[in-house]
Amino acid sequence: MTAPLLHLDSLTKLYKRGGLFGREEFRAVDNVSFHIHDKEPQVFTIIGESGSGKTTLARMVLNMIRPTTGTIFFKGQDLASIRSGGARRRFMKEVQPIFQNPFEAFNPLKRVDRYLYMTAKNFTDAHSPAQLDAAADAALNKVGLSIGEVRGRFPHELSGGQLQRVAIARALIPGPSMIVADEPVSMVDASLRMSIVNLFRTLRDDLKVSIIYITHDLATAYYVSDRIIIMRKGEVVESGLARVVLENPQHEYSRLLKSAVLSPDPRGQGVLIGDSAASQQARASPHRQTINSQS
Ligand SMILES: Nc1ncnc2c1ncn2[C@@H]1O[C@H](COP(=O)(O)OP(=O)(O)OP(=O)(O)O)[C@@H](O)[C@H]1O
Ligand SMILES: [Mg+2]
Repeated sequence: MTAPLLHLDSLTKLYKRGGLFGREEFRAVDNVSFHIHDKEPQVFTIIGESGSGKTTLARMVLNMIRPTTGTIFFKGQDLASIRSGGARRRFMKEVQPIFQNPFEAFNPLKRVDRYLYMTAKNFTDAHSPAQLDAAADAALNKVGLSIGEVRGRFPHELSGGQLQRVAIARALIPGPSMIVADEPVSMVDASLRMSIVNLFRTLRDDLKVSIIYITHDLATAYYVSDRIIIMRKGEVVESGLARVVLENPQHEYSRLLKSAVLSPDPRGQGVLIGDSAASQQARASPHRQTINSQS
């Protein structure tokens, strides 16, 4: 039997809160366990209200922060054992991030093609300018773009949807087996969200990449997910096959989420009905996260 792609066991992250006096421990993520099997690639969705611990969980899975207690295994390797630069690089080659706001993920003064070239240089055998160009173009082709469309351009010269596609292309260059996408569509125009979400399906089916899709948005979650967990206040309140959970939520909070976001769809599919209050809140206070051009 092979190890699961990802296995989280009793993961907890505590933060200290409060002033000088009366500082107390706060559970941002509380005893979360789940696994993503490696039999076939899947879209695994983490959904929950603002502050429920989704980003904290994602950052632990990406090995950007350490859990307070609990373990994370990726392909059988304990993330806590990743210490050397080489081990870190090997892990980053396998597990790539996509963040919420593409305009904040790219330095506005840096041409976007540089990110693609740097990633190709660091994670592939490409070295000459022609090889780097080819690697960037191949990745861009997977997201419906070409190097000709982005060469020499700055972030503001691309649309939000295009830029998020470039971010996805960059994440694909190392040939990862998993992508962790933290609210990848909440800053993208509603009209373009479905195209990005559909792209995740294509990556799953054609490139065999598993996607952890973090979102506030039940409609796109319903549409794209294979499995889902619903988080509230750091805890997983419900989990299972996405259709089963979303069509027949058992937990009171999950029911509340569903009634707040989903509308009946005549075609029997989840549809976007505009922004949920939570999405608007996220837009008002986006987390600043920057793609490291070395990664
Ligand atoms: N570095 C930190 N120090 C202290 N508290 C933190 C830290 N990072 C996150 N938190 C707190 O942990 C909780 C979970 O935050 P997190 O960013 O994981 O939520 P989220 O589900 O991603 O929310 P959103 O949907 O708004 O992105 C929040 O109450 C947040 O204030
Ligand atoms: Mg978040």
